[in-house]
Amino acid sequence: MRKGRFRKPLAKSAANYSESVSVDRRLFRHDIAGSIAHAAALAKAGIISAVEQKKIESGLREVDREIRAGEFCWDKALEDVHMNIENALIQRIGDAGAKLHTARSRNDQISLDLRLYVKAEIKRSSLQLRKLQRTFLKHAQKYIDAVMPGYTHLQRAQPVLLAHYLLGQIEVFARDAERLADCLKRTDVLPLGSGALAGSTIVVDREFIAGQLGFARVSQNSLDAVSDRDFVCEFVFSLAMIGMHLSRLSEDLIVWSTREFGFVEFSEEFSTGSSLMPQKKNPDMAELARGKTGRLYGNLMSILTMLKALPSSYNRDLQEDKEALFDSVDTISAALDLFSKMLPQLKFNRDRMKAAAMDSNLLATDLAEYLVRKGMPFREAHQTVGKIVAGALKTKTKLNAITLRDLKKISPQFDLDVAKVFDIRRSLAARDATGAPSPKNVTAQIKSWRARLGRGG
Ligand code: ARG
Repeated sequence: MRKGRFRKPLAKSAANYSESVSVDRRLFRHDIAGSIAHAAALAKAGIISAVEQKKIESGLREVDREIRAGEFCWDKALEDVHMNIENALIQRIGDAGAKLHTARSRNDQISLDLRLYVKAEIKRSSLQLRKLQRTFLKHAQKYIDAVMPGYTHLQRAQPVLLAHYLLGQIEVFARDAERLADCLKRTDVLPLGSGALAGSTIVVDREFIAGQLGFARVSQNSLDAVSDRDFVCEFVFSLAMIGMHLSRLSEDLIVWSTREFGFVEFSEEFSTGSSLMPQKKNPDMAELARGKTGRLYGNLMSILTMLKALPSSYNRDLQEDKEALFDSVDTISAALDLFSKMLPQLKFNRDRMKAAAMDSNLLATDLAEYLVRKGMPFREAHQTVGKIVAGALKTKTKLNAITLRDLKKISPQFDLDVAKVFDIRRSLAARDATGAPSPKNVTAQIKSWRARLGRGG
């Protein structure tokens, strides 16, 4: 590449500083797929012959095989994945290979490779999310009867079903899948044919290339096409969100697995011991997932910052997107894989959860709503029950153990039927608005997710 314009070779330090093949070689299969489609377009445009096209295609397929077999010799002196592959092709087939880069720049080539890569990874993460959702669904079915306290501020609040929590996690990851599907729309655009920034005087059929490579659309502005890394940001953001969701899930499980809660137990296969304290069983996998959220946010911030204030079109800074992108992909794909193996082995403790849910204070709001039904304004009912709770705390009485006589002293509107308020099953059944945790709703949700998520592992 330097032979024409330059007299001196690139300094060793500059070559080491700027090489990217040690990172971007990961894109090889997309680079090769892109080149095969580009060669077909060059043939269609009459720039290369059908014989040359065949030679290029079979040469590239050989290079592909060699790379997959681990026999390919990557050369940092050739800078990046594009030049390594092109050079290997020329070594093999000579002149025909030297025609491949016609009407193409590494600027549109790298954007193409990245888009193909992100598209493939969106597909993979979406499948992993689905698998994870199925593990929640299985638990929801298994523990359909388990009641537990719901928390706000990590303080016991109101009763829910464990299945309601688990179905909530399915919702969380459904949003992530939806975000990925949305990101795919903007990723699914062919940039090839944009050249370095201004297309080329040699015109290739870009719609044809898009068809060959399975792109839904063709970019409409060559300057923007070599400049645009929005799809990388969006994807890395979506991965950061998945990481944040896994972290919050981890936090719930970590807290619930303490002796203090005792709601859930991690299987031994996914727990670690302490090098000092023989009795310890630690939830390190969940802690690591929580901890890795930091690098996911960092990767997003690093790409956004790299892009900020870049002049439009291609600048070499753009090369810096890959390490962050690849790291986020690896981090999330490992976490999703781990969770879909770890979660099915979780054992929830129905009795511990039930005992905690039987705390009659959880039904204080129900008691206020009882008074509302008798005609009392909610604000007044809230205050009245507040006083009852304070009194019960003082006398160390349970809310459901206060006599009707004592209740009547605070409000004459209390009657014999107040006893029913403290039936937790009744309370749950009454929570029947769309989205609320009544057993009827939860059962319907399980059914609906079963239809949506299908079977499979
Ligand atoms: N390695 C570059 C990147 O990742 C692609 C090559 C374009 N290089 C250039 N000097 N124009 O963005």
